[in-house]
Amino acid sequence: MVRKTTSKSYSAAAVAVAIVMVTYVAFSSVFDRRLFRSLSFSQGTLQQTWESRRIKQPPQPQETASATITCDRSHSSYDLCSINGSCILDPKTGTFILMDPIFATSAPLVEKIRPYPRKAENWIMPRIKELTLTSGPLGLSRSCDVTHDSPAIVFSAGGYTGSIYHDFIDGFIPLFITANSVYLDSDFVLVVANHKEWWMPKYIDILGAFSKHKTILLDKENASITHCFTSATVGLISHGAMTIDPTQIANSKSFVDFHNLLDKAFTKNISTPKTHKPRLILVSRYGRIGRVILNEKEIKEMLEGIGFEVKIFRPSKTTSLREAYKLIKSSHGMIGVHGAALTHLMFLRPGSVLVQIVPVGLGWVSKTCFESPAKAMKLEYIEYRVNVEESSLIEKYNKDDLLLKDPIAFRGMDWNVTKMKVYLKEQDVRLDVNRFRKHMNEAYEKAKLFMDLNS
Ligand SMILES: *[C@@H]1O[C@H](CO)[C@@H](O)[C@H](O)[C@H]1NC(C)=O
Ligand SMILES: *[C@@H]1O[C@H](CO)[C@@H](O)[C@H](O)[C@H]1NC(C)=O
Ligand SMILES: *[C@@H]1O[C@H](CO)[C@@H](O)[C@H](O)[C@H]1NC(C)=O
Ligand SMILES: *[C@@H]1O[C@H](CO)[C@@H](O)[C@H](O)[C@H]1NC(C)=O
Repeated sequence: MVRKTTSKSYSAAAVAVAIVMVTYVAFSSVFDRRLFRSLSFSQGTLQQTWESRRIKQPPQPQETASATITCDRSHSSYDLCSINGSCILDPKTGTFILMDPIFATSAPLVEKIRPYPRKAENWIMPRIKELTLTSGPLGLSRSCDVTHDSPAIVFSAGGYTGSIYHDFIDGFIPLFITANSVYLDSDFVLVVANHKEWWMPKYIDILGAFSKHKTILLDKENASITHCFTSATVGLISHGAMTIDPTQIANSKSFVDFHNLLDKAFTKNISTPKTHKPRLILVSRYGRIGRVILNEKEIKEMLEGIGFEVKIFRPSKTTSLREAYKLIKSSHGMIGVHGAALTHLMFLRPGSVLVQIVPVGLGWVSKTCFESPAKAMKLEYIEYRVNVEESSLIEKYNKDDLLLKDPIAFRGMDWNVTKMKVYLKEQDVRLDVNRFRKHMNEAYEKAKLFMDLNS
């Protein structure tokens, strides 16, 4: 099954670049190269449907619905397994055992799954804990140390987790989709594998908005204490990077609903400070990481001149999400160069303004990563495309070089991490204040209107 280069493989490529932005931080460049090689064929990955192995049962005398273990492996990015009856979790082995006497005498079902929605990415999946779902007499001989009167949703916070972009696209957004697809209005317990120490404190508010129950961290729990659930869903459903497709969810939940969930997580105690000017969050990149606004001070003054109250926002791994939420929620717009920190757009109120500054050669990633979700979240999206004169690449490369003249052609067919690095890491921007101001007048009008309507 070989596909030609279509818009679909194009967007897969865009996602790849987003991954790379983060992978730089986490892995070596050797690793990057493997990543790229694999991505180039990940679209062609064989899609396989695989039904659970099950020993045929003789017809049962009484027609009681029996529980079973099923796995849907038909999707290209994720697997989803479930046990639709009482089960017991042995944290020591990461095994969920179906407790149904019907299996006491038959050969057990066994399914294995790594619950992370990037199954085609062979370099990252081995880092995800493999869990087992099984049936059999074992389940009856173990006792429940802790009995939960709810089902479990089980996923991994490993993999690319560590950049806010990935924490959402591979974690909370798929979790939102899964919760709404599988459990609708019922509650559930979250069971998380591969967590890192910082993860739980950082996201405790969001986890609390998903579930009123305490999150079970598989690698931290007392390994000799078993947990019982009414059923279990293992794995997360993904609709693609930064995507929630309401048409694929029974209750039609959208990105706006996801924003509302975050709102529920963080606004228990927020008082919005009064303002007479539209408040604009300037997402600031700094250091030698690429895509820095070199004349940021000048830009800030220009924005203040137009009438904005400008707040510089420099998120880091230790930034409190609650504080970030408070700041962004009370603003009327956000502006920043394409980069992971724009993930915070999810904290903006629908109707406020997002300005994405798009450096040379990054139009396509900008669209997938942030334009589409911004529109899905009903933000007023404005894009500012940096021209060659505003890019620092002009100092290193000839203006007639394909790299600057036609980035799409430059990427060509055999694009690789070295080529992308040029646009992502080597490039800073020095915005033309007059040209930029023209776009920002429109942003001001929209933000002002939003402020007048919503305070
Ligand atoms: C579990 O799923 C199987 C297969 O989909 C179904 O036949 C059975 O009735 C379900 N059992 C329960 C308890 O929901
Ligand atoms: C784990 O639970 C067992 C059984 O209750 C107990 O004996 C043991 O002390 C616990 N271990 C830890 C580290 O809490
Ligand atoms: C909520 O606000 C009150 C009063 O400002 C403060 O004392 C309390 O600690 C806050 N609670 C949380 C969870 O932030
Ligand atoms: C990427 O491609 C360029 C030109 O095609 C080549 O010079 C470079 O070595 C390649 N880099 C990697 C990491 O493959």
